[in-house]
Amino acid sequence: MKMKELLLFLSCVLCVCADVLHEDIAINACSDSDGEFMYGLDGEEKGYADFNKQEFIYPQPPFIDRTTYANPYEQAVANQQICRSNLKIRRDAMKDIPLEHDAPSGVTIYTRDEVEFGVQNTLICHVTGFYPAPVNVSWTKNGQKVTGSSINTPYLNKDGSFRQTSRLDFTPQLGDVYSCAVQHLALAEPLAKIYEVDSSAHSDPGVGPSVFCGVGLTLGLVGVAVGTFFLIKGNECS
Ligand SMILES: *[C@@H]1O[C@H](CO)[C@@H](O)[C@H](O)[C@H]1NC(C)=O
Repeated sequence: MKMKELLLFLSCVLCVCADVLHEDIAINACSDSDGEFMYGLDGEEKGYADFNKQEFIYPQPPFIDRTTYANPYEQAVANQQICRSNLKIRRDAMKDIPLEHDAPSGVTIYTRDEVEFGVQNTLICHVTGFYPAPVNVSWTKNGQKVTGSSINTPYLNKDGSFRQTSRLDFTPQLGDVYSCAVQHLALAEPLAKIYEVDSSAHSDPGVGPSVFCGVGLTLGLVGVAVGTFFLIKGNECS
């Protein structure tokens, strides 16, 4: 645990020293049935419009210094109107050009924290490399559908494809099997990934390591003391 904190600290120092180029991004996207408006920075979402709730969401944890915008939801709605009118113009102009469809190139399932039985954790299903956005992600636990997952807004990759991340809070129990299934326009069948809670997960290490460390340290110190004793003894005799 201490080691992890130390590494985290070191990496922070490193990134302060390095010359960094930040990447600020704004996405305004629309289709007949869907739309997205978001601001991002360095791969993170700064804020996005939730058109169902009709409000602008700042999804970061409360401890960060967040960037806020003036009337962002109204701006998003105005931008969506521009997007729809541009879409219509382009459709008329490019009549028979088919839309490109790229199925997700990668789906990865993993846990946010190291797994400990009975300790609440989050399963993450990361989907990348698809076009157009979005994907739908559904979850199962032991073959049964589960609800309560969340998904972020699509984020643009450097190659013009998209990525999205779905999260599901769960409590690991030995033998439970979870899956995330991804639906996309370019997939005939949902693409599923499985996560199994197996015995390689950690349970409480107990006192074993501390006892081992204590005994080892004691033996080492005794060795140094005995060595010193004989060294002095040997010097006195000669
Ligand atoms: C995602 O789910 C919605 C609602 O069920 C559906 O209308 C839409 O077609 C789905 N999208 C894909 C890519 O399967």
